[in-house]
Parts: sequence; structure tokens; C-alpha cells
Amino acid sequence: MDVKFITTLILLYLIYLTTTTALDPCASQTDGSDLNMIPIYGKCSPFSSPNTDSWANTLINMASKDPARLKYLSTLVGQKTVTSAPIASGQAFNIGNYIVRVKIGTPGQLLFMVLDTSTDEAFAPCLGCQGCAATTFLPNVSSSYGSLDCSVPQCGQVHGLPCLAEGTSPCSFNQSYAGSSFSATLVQDSLRLATDVIPNYSFGCVNAISGGSVPAQGLLGLGRGPLSLLSQSGALYSGVFSYCLPSFKSYYFSGSLKLGPVGQPKNIRTTPLLRNPHRPSLYYVNLTGISVGHVLVPIPTEYLAFDSTTGSGTVIDSGTVITRFVEPIYNVVRDEFRKQVSGSFSSLGAFDTCFVKSYETLAPPVTLHFQGLDLTLPLENSLIHSSSGSLACLAMAAAPNNVNSVLNVIANLQQQNLRILFDTVNNKVGIARELCN
Ligand SMILES: *[C@@H]1O[C@H](CO)[C@@H](O)[C@H](O)[C@H]1NC(C)=O
Ligand SMILES: *[C@@H]1O[C@H](CO)[C@@H](O)[C@H](O)[C@H]1NC(C)=O
Ligand SMILES: *[C@@H]1O[C@H](CO)[C@@H](O)[C@H](O)[C@H]1NC(C)=O
Ligand SMILES: *[C@@H]1O[C@H](CO)[C@@H](O)[C@H](O)[C@H]1NC(C)=O
Repeated sequence: MDVKFITTLILLYLIYLTTTTALDPCASQTDGSDLNMIPIYGKCSPFSSPNTDSWANTLINMASKDPARLKYLSTLVGQKTVTSAPIASGQAFNIGNYIVRVKIGTPGQLLFMVLDTSTDEAFAPCLGCQGCAATTFLPNVSSSYGSLDCSVPQCGQVHGLPCLAEGTSPCSFNQSYAGSSFSATLVQDSLRLATDVIPNYSFGCVNAISGGSVPAQGLLGLGRGPLSLLSQSGALYSGVFSYCLPSFKSYYFSGSLKLGPVGQPKNIRTTPLLRNPHRPSLYYVNLTGISVGHVLVPIPTEYLAFDSTTGSGTVIDSGTVITRFVEPIYNVVRDEFRKQVSGSFSSLGAFDTCFVKSYETLAPPVTLHFQGLDLTLPLENSLIHSSSGSLACLAMAAAPNNVNSVLNVIANLQQQNLRILFDTVNNKVGIARELCN
């Protein structure tokens, strides 16, 4: 073969490589500290199911798991005796809805971890784990891996077994998870996010799970407490991150998670971030009122007030699908919405205000009034359509019956196509419209 021919072949191959990468919507497009956030059941997720359920059905199924999530969030906030509870020890919680690609170890081993803004710690299934799926982290091939023993402060934070009098032992702990549970040992290794490396990241190395709801490739906590990504990355991200969640309809596309102050929107409206010392992980905000259309609905202030002792107030959460208000708030919002749409209403899954889609032009926008910031939800963030497309439903609900909730939760359907910026140093949450489909 002559040189020219071989050169042509190489060129063709290179063109093929670049075009296939460019055309692959699932190719990793990470840039600096900006990561793709993939919907867990989306097409680019290793967990997407092969059956062709419509996104509407997927959403309804996902929303049906919200009660477990609400129960988790609510039981946590009511624990008055606990002064520091960074870990959801012994509590059930629901799987998150977005995953990111992370690499652990040296060289980096790829895992698709669930992101959770209401949890602090990270955990990953480890080699030899009983009951885990095939993809596990292999400590034995990582040169930066280290185990942590019972004497380190992080061991207390995960409620690990205290050291015995005879000396130190590995830090082992158990955790419950939405009716499932796992046992793990606390370890550390390099965590790689896009091009950033966080050395000596403490996380749970899962040795055994029972039950099916532990995230298959682990979880990365984005909360505010001591073991979270923000705390462990220290100066690297300066306590700042933001995300933009894509529309549930745009199944293929991922949102973005931007870590650190660089590249964040400059002129963004903000509302104070409130701190609950009993529940340091949660992102509480000050919701002061709700309007439906031009009507500010009457809500007794006690249902909106932040109280760190009872845990009442409003949190922004990435793991709940539809916004849940305590029942008295939901009822007045729903009644005003129904009044303005008129017509007759039916129920679908968690949604009790569904109406014939042709009435949609009458649907009033819902405005959330936060201290210093009004957020008028675009219609796609307040309505969902049935899979047949004939019905539209108000995509919010009351806290489930079995949950004695004092908490209002702003969920991910209501956050679509918005950039939500968390600044834990200056205690602010910023919100701006951004199309990230
Ligand atoms: C690491 O463990 C795996 C699974 O037991 C094994 O296949 C592999 O050979 C080990 N690698 C090293 C370098 O020990
Ligand atoms: C975890 O649970 C198992 C089984 O109940 C128990 O044997 C073990 O001692 C527990 N470990 C810790 C660290 O609590
Ligand atoms: C990580 O931990 C190892 C072992 O404890 C230590 O030798 C190393 O200095 C630490 N690296 C960093 C960057 O903290
Ligand atoms: C919430 O905002 C209202 C109205 O600005 C204010 O009166 C109240 O003190 C705020 N609550 C907290 C906990 O900051």
C-alpha cells in the first residue's frame, strides 16, 4: 500500500471518529467543572429501561415514589434531640432522579452516581459486595485508595462502630435506604469530576446490600453537612454550585451541574438560604406566599414559617419529582387553580387536578414568592400531560397521607429549565431562567 492511500484511510477514520462522537448525544461533554446531569431513566443513562414507556408514564411512576422521599425528609427534620445528623442513618429515602459520571481511584474507575442535594455522604458498591450489580469499585487496583479506621472524626459522622478498647479497626457502618439497607466501611480515594480531582475523598465502600432500592452505582451527596461534596472539596469549589435540570420531555438530553464560582451567572436574583442546625444537609429557603394567576392565595403564615425546632419550612430538593405542599397550602392553591380553569377535574396517579387539555389556555401560572424573589413557573413546570396527551394535570400535590409533614418541598419538575445556584458561603439561592434541554 502506498503512503497516500494509508494517509487517506487514517484521515477517513479520523473524520469518522469525530462525526460519530459529535452525533452521539450520550457522549460525555464535560468541560472544566461543568458536568452533564443525566435523568436516571433517560436514554443516556445505563439505568434507562428498554421498554418504551412514555415519559408521562415514567414521570407518574417516578412521582409515585415521592411519598417515601417525603417521609425521609420529614422524619429527618422532626428529630429534635439530634444536634448533628449529617447522615440519614436508619431512615428510608427514595432514589434520586439524576446521575453524573464520576471516576474514583487512580487510575479513575467510571461510576454513574445518583446526585442528591438532601444527602451529604457518598457511597459506592465495592469489589465483593453481596447483592450489588456487576459494576463495582475495585480498591485493589487503585494506587490512591486508603481505608479509614474507627478513630477518625468522619466515622462518628456516619454513625460507625466506635473503637473497642483493644485498639483500632476499620470504620464499619450500616444504613437504611427506602426499605433496603446496606453495610459499608468508610474509605478514601481520589474523586474525579470532569477534569477536577478531589484527593482523599471519604465515602462508604458498600460491602453488602439487602433490598433493591440502593442506587446501583452509588450516590454523591450535594448537601451542606460535613461529609458532602462541598465540604470535602474545600477551597476547590468555594461552597458554590449550580444546576439546570432539563425538561423531562427531552429524554435524550442532560442538564448541567456547574461546580465552583467560575462560570456562574452574575446577575441572578437571589433569596436567602436558611440554616437548620438540626438538619444541616437541607437547603431551606423562605417561601412567603403563592399566587395563582393574579390571586395571592390566603395561607396562614404558620404553614410557611421556617422553624428549625420542628423542621417546618420549605426546602429545594433534587430527589423529589413533584412539588409537595403541606395539605392546607395545597388545598388553597388547588382550589384557586380549579376556580380559574373551571370545567371538571379527574385524578391521575398523584395528581388530583387533571382536566381536558383544550382548557389549558385557561390555566393560570403559579408564582412562588420567596423572600426577595418571585418565581413565576413556566407552564411546562406546573402542568404535566397524560401519555395519551388528552389530559393536563396540575403537577403538584399535598404531602402524602401517611406522612405527617411540616415541610414544603420544591421538587425537580418545578425546577426544569431554570439555573438554580447554591451559594453556601454567602447563604443565597439564585434562580434564573435557562433553557438547558
Ligand atoms: C483486583 O481484584 C479483581 C477481582 O477480584 C481481580 O480480578 C484482579 O486481578 C485484582 N487486581 C489486582 C491488581 O490485584
Ligand atoms: C450491621 O448490621 C449487621 C446485621 O444486622 C450487624 O451484624 C452488624 O453488627 C451491623 N454493623 C454495624 C456497624 O452496626
Ligand atoms: C491522602 O492521604 C494519604 C494517606 O493518609 C496521605 O499520605 C496524603 O498526604 C493525603 N493526600 C492529600 C492530598 O491530602
Ligand atoms: C421570611 O421573609 C419574611 C418576609 O420578608 C420575613 O418577615 C421573615 O422574617 C423571613 N423568615 C426568615 C426565617 O428569615
